[in-house]
Amino acid sequence: MDSPEPRRKLKTFKLRDDVISEHRRKLKTVKLSPLRQFPTVRSVFYFFCFFLFFFIIFRRHPTTSFQRVVELSRFSKLSTYKFDSVRVLSKFNELTQFKIESRVSFPDHILLIGTTIDAAVRNSNQFECVYRSNFSNLDLGDDVIKGANDDGDDVIKGMNVLSVDEYSDNRLLVRCALPPVNFSAPVGIRRRGLTSLTVGLADDKPLNTWENLAYEAVLDGNTAVVFVKGISHRQGKESDPRQFRCHFGLGEYMITSRAVTAAQEVVRCALPRSMVMRPEKARGVRTTVSFRMPRVHGRVNHVLVPSVAKIPGSVFSPKVKKHELCVCTMLWNQAHSIREWITYHSWLGVEKWFVYDNNSDDEIKTVIEDLDFEGYNVSRHVWPWIKTQEAGFSHCAIRAQSECNWVSFMDVDEFYYFPYNPVSGFPGQGSLRTLVSNFTTSSSIGEIRTSCHSFGPSGLTSRPKQGVTVGYTCRLQSPERHKSIIRPDALDTNLMNVVHHFHLRKGFTFIDLPQNTAIINHYKYQVWEVFRAKFYRRVATYVADWKDNQNEGSRDRAPGLGTEPIEPPDWRLQFCEVWDTGLRDFVLANLGDVTTGVLPWDRSM
Ligand SMILES: *[C@@H]1O[C@H](CO)[C@@H](O)[C@H](O)[C@H]1NC(C)=O
Ligand SMILES: *[C@@H]1O[C@H](CO)[C@@H](O)[C@H](O)[C@H]1NC(C)=O
Ligand SMILES: *[C@@H]1O[C@H](CO)[C@@H](O)[C@H](O)[C@H]1NC(C)=O
Ligand SMILES: *[C@@H]1O[C@H](CO)[C@@H](O)[C@H](O)[C@H]1NC(C)=O
Ligand SMILES: *[C@@H]1O[C@H](CO)[C@@H](O)[C@H](O)[C@H]1NC(C)=O
Repeated sequence: MDSPEPRRKLKTFKLRDDVISEHRRKLKTVKLSPLRQFPTVRSVFYFFCFFLFFFIIFRRHPTTSFQRVVELSRFSKLSTYKFDSVRVLSKFNELTQFKIESRVSFPDHILLIGTTIDAAVRNSNQFECVYRSNFSNLDLGDDVIKGANDDGDDVIKGMNVLSVDEYSDNRLLVRCALPPVNFSAPVGIRRRGLTSLTVGLADDKPLNTWENLAYEAVLDGNTAVVFVKGISHRQGKESDPRQFRCHFGLGEYMITSRAVTAAQEVVRCALPRSMVMRPEKARGVRTTVSFRMPRVHGRVNHVLVPSVAKIPGSVFSPKVKKHELCVCTMLWNQAHSIREWITYHSWLGVEKWFVYDNNSDDEIKTVIEDLDFEGYNVSRHVWPWIKTQEAGFSHCAIRAQSECNWVSFMDVDEFYYFPYNPVSGFPGQGSLRTLVSNFTTSSSIGEIRTSCHSFGPSGLTSRPKQGVTVGYTCRLQSPERHKSIIRPDALDTNLMNVVHHFHLRKGFTFIDLPQNTAIINHYKYQVWEVFRAKFYRRVATYVADWKDNQNEGSRDRAPGLGTEPIEPPDWRLQFCEVWDTGLRDFVLANLGDVTTGVLPWDRSM
C-alpha cells in the first residue's frame, strides 16, 4: 500500500529542490528577458534607457520614424525567438511590451492572461484580438510582420477585445470573443489599425479549457492553497487528501508535496521545505495539483491538472493590530449601489472591504478607487472565474485572515439593520463593530448569524434616487435564510463552504442573533430594470438557465415569475406583505446632512 511512500517521496523532493534552485541560479544569469523579473528596479531602468534611446533617435529624425518602426519590429521579431517575448514599437515614443502567459477558453469567451509594462494596453478600445485562419499553414510570425490584414487575405483576423482588466502581480486579463468560423482561438493581440504590429503572441501556449484547470493559488502559513476546476468534488463533502498532490514550478522541474485537505475545489498542501524556509522562493511560482486515478493494470496513475495559477508575488503582511471587522463580497455590475452600501456599513463599523469583481463592465472600478481614496479601505480583486463563488469566498477568507478578526460575507444588496431596542436604544456609529467585538474574546463563537428580510419593489417603478435603504419599504413577512460574520481563525482548514456557510474548526460554534438585535434588509426584488439585469446575468453565466423550466422550483428564482424575461404586469406590487420603514426612517434621521438632509451617498446634488 501507500504507507512507506511519503517518506521516500520526501527524499526526492529535497533532491529535486536543490536541482531547481541550481537551475534557477543558472537561468538568472542566462535569461535576458526583463519580463521574467518584472517588476524589478533593474527592468524598469532598462526599459527607461531603451525608451530614452528611441525617443532621442526619433526626435532627431521625425520624418523617418515610420520606416524605423517597421525595421525595428522586424529586428525585434528576430530576437523574439531568443528572449521568448515579443517587442514592438508602435509610435515614436510608445513602446509596448505584452506577453501572453496563458489562455483559457470559457463557453462564451477566451481569456488571455498576460504581462505588460505599457499602460496603453489597459485601454481596451485600442486593441484587437488576433485570430488565425484554419486554412493557413504559413508561419504566424511572418504573417504578422508582413502585415496580413482583414481586407486582403483572410489569414489573420482582428476582432475587438471584449475587455481588459488588471490582474494580480501586474498582469492583465484580456477577454476575446470566441473565434469566427474557420478561425482558431485568439493567438495574440494587436493595436488597432496597425495591422503589421502584433503586441502579444501566444506562440505555443496551449489553450486551456476552463473545465479542467488550476486557476488560483495562495500561501497560507506553511501551506499552499490551490483552487482547481474539474477535480471530482462533492458538494459539502471532504475528499481523501491522499489522492492529491501539489506541484510547484511547472515546466522542466517540479517540486511536489502532499495534500493535507481537499474539499470542493480547494486543495491545501504542505509547502515544500525550501519554500517554508524562504517564502520568497514561492512567489510567482506556477502551481497545480495532480490526483490519483484508479489503478489500471496494477499501476497507479497520477493525472496532472493544467494550470494558470501562480502564487502571488505580494505577501499579505500580518498586521500588528487587526481590523475588528472586514467584508468580503463578490459582485457584478453594482457601480450604482456600492457607494451607499459601503458608506452605510462603514458608519456601522466596517473597516476594510475586499471586493471580488465578477467580470463587471460598468464603472465599478472607478467607484471603488474613489471610495478607497476617500479612506474607506476598499480593494478590488478581479475574479474572472465563473461559477466559483464558494472558492472566491475561501480565497477571500485567506486574504482577510491576517488583517481581520471578523469577516462578514455579504452581497451589495444586503444591509444590516438594528431595530430600536428598549435596552440599548438606537444604534450608533460603529454598532456592528461593537457587536462583533463582543465575541472576539470568546473561545467558542466562530460565526455570527443574522436573519434576512426580503424586500420587494415596494410600489416603485424606477430606481430610488436616495438609495435602496430609503426607497424600498415593503417586504415579505418571514425572514428567509441568514448571513454570517465569520472569524477566519476559527475556520476549518479545508475551507469548505456552501452558500455562505463555512465549516468551523472543532470547538467552535455559531450564534444566532435575535431578530430584535439585528436583521439584514435584503433588497432582493428591486425595480424591474434592476431585477432583470440580475436574471440575464444568470443566463449569461450558466447558472440555472431561466428559459429552462427544470429549475423552476429553485429558491433563486422569483416565485411566480415564470421563465420569460418580460416584466410581469404587477411586478411593483409583488413580494409586499408588510410595510417596514425602520431602516429608511433611521437613515433619514441619522445619516443625512444636518442642514440639507442630503445622504452621504447621494451624488445627484
Ligand atoms: C469554412 O470552411 C469550410 C470548408 O472549407 C467552407 O466550406 C466554409 O464555407 C467555411 N465557412 C466560412 C464561414 O468561411
Ligand atoms: C479551426 O481550428 C480550430 C483549432 O485550431 C478548431 O478548434 C476549429 O474547430 C476549427 N474550425 C473549423 C470550422 O474547422
Ligand atoms: C482604514 O484602515 C486604517 C488602518 O489600516 C484605519 O485606521 C481606518 O480607520 C480605516 N478606515 C475606515 C473608514 O475604517
Ligand atoms: C458571480 O458569477 C458567478 C458565475 O459567473 C455566479 O455563480 C455567482 O453567483 C456570481 N456572484 C455574484 C455575487 O454575483
Ligand atoms: C456585549 O456583551 C455584554 C457582556 O457580555 C452584554 O451585556 C451586551 O449585551 C453585549 N452586547 C451586544 C451588542 O451583544
